[in-house]
Amino acid sequence: METNSYLIKVKDLCTYFYTDEGTVRAVDGVELKIRSGETLGVVGESGCGKSVTALSIMQLIPSPPGKIIRGSILYQNNKGESLDIVQLDPRGKKMRSIRGGEIAMIFQEPMTSLNPIYTIGDQIIEAIMTHRNMTRQEAREHAIRMLDRVGIPGPKQRINEYPHQLSGGMRQRAMIAMALSCHPNLLIADEPTTALDVTVQAQVLELMKELQQEFGMAIMMITHNLGVIAETADNVSVMYLGKIMEYASAHDLFHNPLHPYLKALLRSIPSLAGKGQKLEVIKGMVPDPLSFPQGCRFAPRCRYARKICKQEDPPAVEIEKGHQVKCWLYQ
Ligand SMILES: Nc1ncnc2c1ncn2[C@@H]1O[C@H](COP(=O)(O)OP(=O)(O)OP(=O)(O)O)[C@@H](O)[C@H]1O
Ligand SMILES: [Mg+2]
Repeated sequence: METNSYLIKVKDLCTYFYTDEGTVRAVDGVELKIRSGETLGVVGESGCGKSVTALSIMQLIPSPPGKIIRGSILYQNNKGESLDIVQLDPRGKKMRSIRGGEIAMIFQEPMTSLNPIYTIGDQIIEAIMTHRNMTRQEAREHAIRMLDRVGIPGPKQRINEYPHQLSGGMRQRAMIAMALSCHPNLLIADEPTTALDVTVQAQVLELMKELQQEFGMAIMMITHNLGVIAETADNVSVMYLGKIMEYASAHDLFHNPLHPYLKALLRSIPSLAGKGQKLEVIKGMVPDPLSFPQGCRFAPRCRYARKICKQEDPPAVEIEKGHQVKCWLYQ
């Protein structure tokens, strides 16, 4: 059965924010699927709904003003049960054992998951003791090992420090240590390397790969950086204004991009465009999230847009096995 072969399967997910100015349809019909041990890359411009998708999976959407209004997030838990996360009580026992334990998240902004009034050690130890069967002493030793593995020097001392005593890059690494310390089935990494310099970035990606092989963990890698995608992802979902425009293997994404948005995105990257070639700017502005265009959301900026594109939203179609696109050019 197809559903059983996926660790997580997101179907028609819609997460909206009801603000004083109007409704923001941040995530609007998103489909995602990830197998155990797989890395799914999620790319797209700022504001397209990557973080909101991740927070929906964790049941961490601030409510109000946010709400998951439709769709399902099917997840196979450690006991082999198939659960729909959308139906679980965000504060209930089942969700609390999934969140931070079976599914862990590295947040885009480290201070959202590190509490300033506790030492990083206390926070990591607390997480370990909540989700794994360890004594405080064992948890402490495990935390020190994890801090060491993410490249924090002097972990025995550092474990007693408060978040503000660490640099931005160190904080990011402490958060990564916390997320990985419970050996999650799925790690959601939301721009995990943006706060890090390039050498540390490579180290952190390498570490995530190592742990993935060790524990068979799946990763949802959210990033603007197509270099990181090329480096880490098996499959990739390309997002634009709350919708998935294309899904392909990382190889096909770079060698056979289909959607005009993805093509333009690839032409706008210096190293991929090739020497001497003119870089492309995607024309037009990202539309106001309060009033998305009718039809395909990319149509106002698309050089191929026809009449139908401005009237009706195209369905996703499978062009080859494992390669889907949502564009009228391919219907
Ligand atoms: N708490 C909130 N209240 C109102 N709108 C919100 C809230 N959180 C997110 N949004 C809106 O949802 C949309 C998607 O935001 P999201 O943070 O998911 O973007 P993103 O793809 O992660 O962008 P970035 O690459 O900049 O991190 C944006 O229009 C954003 O303004
Ligand atoms: Mg984000």
